[in-house]
Amino acid sequence: VVLIIYIVVFCRTNAVNGDNDEFYHGKFPENFVWGAATASQRTKYLGCVYTQKGIGHVVNDETGDVACDSYHKYEEDVKLLKNLKVNHYRFSISWSRILPKGTLEVINKNGVVYYNNLINALMKEGITPIVTLYHWDLPQALQEGRMAQQFYQRSLRGVCAVKFWITLNEPYVVSYHGHEIGAMAPGIKGNGDKIYIAAHTLIKSHANAYRIYEREFKNKQNGIIGITLNVHWQVAKNPFSPADVKAADTATQFQYGWFAHPVFINGSSDFIGINFYTSGSTWLKVTPTAIRKMIKWTKDYLGPNVPIYITENGVSDRNGTLQDSHRIYYYNLYINEVLKAIRLGGCDVRGYMAWSLMDNFEWARGYSERFGLHYVDFNDPKRPRTPKKSVDFYSKLISNNGFVH
Ligand code: NOJ
Repeated sequence: VVLIIYIVVFCRTNAVNGDNDEFYHGKFPENFVWGAATASQRTKYLGCVYTQKGIGHVVNDETGDVACDSYHKYEEDVKLLKNLKVNHYRFSISWSRILPKGTLEVINKNGVVYYNNLINALMKEGITPIVTLYHWDLPQALQEGRMAQQFYQRSLRGVCAVKFWITLNEPYVVSYHGHEIGAMAPGIKGNGDKIYIAAHTLIKSHANAYRIYEREFKNKQNGIIGITLNVHWQVAKNPFSPADVKAADTATQFQYGWFAHPVFINGSSDFIGINFYTSGSTWLKVTPTAIRKMIKWTKDYLGPNVPIYITENGVSDRNGTLQDSHRIYYYNLYINEVLKAIRLGGCDVRGYMAWSLMDNFEWARGYSERFGLHYVDFNDPKRPRTPKKSVDFYSKLISNNGFVH
């Protein structure tokens, strides 16, 4: 009897929270941010110490030296974005392109011109740039000289008329994968110590950047600045066991709360950006309801008034097929869950960005993973882009601002 009561209460609570499995037909709020995302090393990088040939850090010894060559092909990329009907484009700044010596004194004007051109081309098409200040490619001298915080301050005082900023992308990955297990740049293996130093430095650099923006730019620009965190939804082994439920929550706290709490306790973020791919299982698993649970978790812990942007969501199919029905299946269900989080769960989700605009250099996995809405031929020096079937799907969804019948 107790078990039955428990199940009824459990189901009712979930129903109240909008936790139903039916597809939801409806629209997103007006002015919803629809976007696609990339990061600089992946699309237009220059050369990297960590990924250089012969070191074996990357699958098949591949490098991101040319990657998608967006440096030369940015006008074409803007056309792809326009055709996709997105109103925002999230990309990151390659600081090695702007600070080639890794010192704050020498600035590569061509790099600055490049970003200005890209931003102007986007704005001309009515596409709002969202700029990530740090998506993992740090000039080596800054890594070595521990000048990351200064580099940050310098960058914010930069040239761009950007009004939507993301300070850090996934500091958990930088700390854990970069400074504990060494599986990603800068490839440091720690002993449970460096990970915390890295995380601490990252959180401080974020706070610094936020305060500078708040003091010097916010009112003038009427802009926003926030942080992007990654998280997997952790599933309790036995949802009826309080100990298991607590263990799952602790795992989420450790991956996500670790960075979210200090930032939001101190009011140093205008929004939370969430990169979400899957549940705490393998990377490629399709677990759509998990994104809604994660959004709800965010609302419960960070407060109902914290605006949420899904800054990355997507799936790799590895083979790069143009008939990417698996990706359509994934997007359809995940985006529907985001809509449910808004309409049924009362969560303040303001935007969604698909990862990724195009196939690109997938860090330690090289070119073996393809997340793109567009196929990129990496064997062709011209790096042609071809829309996959998911482009049709996503652009129609955006035109309808949701799921209509
Ligand atoms: C999150 C990272 O921000 C992005 O750079 C990466 O490509 C995706 N995860 C997929 O691994």
